[in-house]
Amino acid sequence: MPSISIEGRRYAYEDRGTGVPLVLLHGFPFSSASYAPQLERPPQGVRVIAPDHRGFGASELGGGPSTMEAFAEDALTLLDRLGISDAFVGGVSMGGYVAMALTRLDPGRVRGLLLVDTQSLADDAAGQERREVTARDVETRGVGPLAEGMLTRLFGPQASPALRQQIDALMREQNPAAVAAASRGMASRTDAKDILSRYAGRCTIVVGRDDVITPVERAQLMHGLVAGSVLEIVEGAGHLPHLEQPEVFRGIVERLTAAYT
Ligand code: MLT
Repeated sequence: MPSISIEGRRYAYEDRGTGVPLVLLHGFPFSSASYAPQLERPPQGVRVIAPDHRGFGASELGGGPSTMEAFAEDALTLLDRLGISDAFVGGVSMGGYVAMALTRLDPGRVRGLLLVDTQSLADDAAGQERREVTARDVETRGVGPLAEGMLTRLFGPQASPALRQQIDALMREQNPAAVAAASRGMASRTDAKDILSRYAGRCTIVVGRDDVITPVERAQLMHGLVAGSVLEIVEGAGHLPHLEQPEVFRGIVERLTAAYT
């Protein structure tokens, strides 16, 4: 897996396919491996660049905070090093928070946005407290109990046992310190309404019909904020439509990027 060094810290990424660049930012608590179907068979005319956020997968954590802005800064540095001036930027769930943070930091780098099973809203006080409880629990007991709890909520009813098992294993592989740091980073994220209502580029918002973590209403809210956005509701999917319905997801990406290929 290729990597770059950012302030002495390894930052790993996958880079597959040829065509218009699409940065795919992963959710919590996964790694770029959660984009396996898109990496194995990139959408037509699309170069998929999928980094591991700091501390996840093969990337090192380092000492700084794991805010959504920090993850976004890393992705922007990767684009710089790859000589890519602007790209489609997409993310699933926490990856969507990072995509929105990146848009706030440097909107000129965003050729189009792909927001998948995510939300524009910040956590309320109770949500922030739950993130802190999660962080402490992961620090003391590891990622196992979090993975067990999440597994019951991630998928729609049609997801296969093999897929559930694969994602369970991926969550359990992650570094507890990185998972705790990302949980605290999500707690401190700000509402993205301002970013989305200012954003004037192409934007597709995707949500699994059966998502119970960031349900359809959250996607509809974002759709209302981004002028000209497309809303795609994926039947037979929960929180991870790119894994549950990879062929449908592929078509969605190809429709978003088509004008550029
Ligand atoms: C994710 O899938 O990245 C997380 O569920 C996002 C969140 O907890 O808000």
